[in-house]
Amino acid sequence: MAGAPRRVVVGVSGATGTALAVRTLQLLGAAGVERHLVVSPAARRTAAYEMPEATFDAEVVHSFRDIGASIASGSYPVDAMIVIPCSVKTLGAIASGVSENLLVRAADVTLKERRRLVLCVRETPLHLGHLRAMVTATEIGAIIAPPMPAFYAAPESLDDVVDHIVARALSLIGVHVPGAPPWQGTPASAARTEGQRTEGERTEGHSQVGSGGPSGSPARPSR
Ligand SMILES: Cc1cc2nc3c(=O)[nH]c(=O)nc-3n(C[C@H](O)[C@H](O)[C@H](O)COP(=O)(O)O)c2cc1C
Repeated sequence: MAGAPRRVVVGVSGATGTALAVRTLQLLGAAGVERHLVVSPAARRTAAYEMPEATFDAEVVHSFRDIGASIASGSYPVDAMIVIPCSVKTLGAIASGVSENLLVRAADVTLKERRRLVLCVRETPLHLGHLRAMVTATEIGAIIAPPMPAFYAAPESLDDVVDHIVARALSLIGVHVPGAPPWQGTPASAARTEGQRTEGERTEGHSQVGSGGPSGSPARPSR
């Protein structure tokens, strides 16, 4: 995907995680992105339970059943789509191409037009059918990005966890959130150059608990 997106479809399905959807919409709005929103009936039910005061802000709010909407056609220019949270039902529908509602149709269009589609699938545990659906979705072009907490970021609140998850998901569609810079290495890693590492560090690739973290693990300041 070239550059930052100007128009993005946000799908919200009925998995737990209303806060993720709300924050995604807020950050896209702050980034000046035109937001097209589709919310499933199950998502509205989940939202009513989890965040009854929440509002979903978007420039265009489409009806879940309106399969004639602009975003149902590949001729309508959209840069990317994110489904957050994504239920396993919606995952399965996208993987199988059964576009019986606008959310799944818009996702299908995103894939057929070879645009970026990010699915923040939320379920646990997962059975083989879920995993196979994730494989299929990946094979046809989607990115599976489950909303998982990052403990290295030392979150102090649920808001911190939500912000980190959403910032990582948005980075996948080219939206880079201020205050969430890329990981620069642990302080210990930053202090060393590759040339200063021992042969053992270069070849063995293992570390002890508390010895500085896994390769590529992010630092606290880089949430
Ligand atoms: C409070 C609540 C939490 C739910 N959490 C999940 C979840 O984490 N993952 C999931 O796949 N389904 C979850 N569900 C079930 C989905 O909402 C349900 O399967 C629904 O049919 C999904 O439809 P949709 O994909 O069209 O939104 C939850 C339902 C409720 C009411």
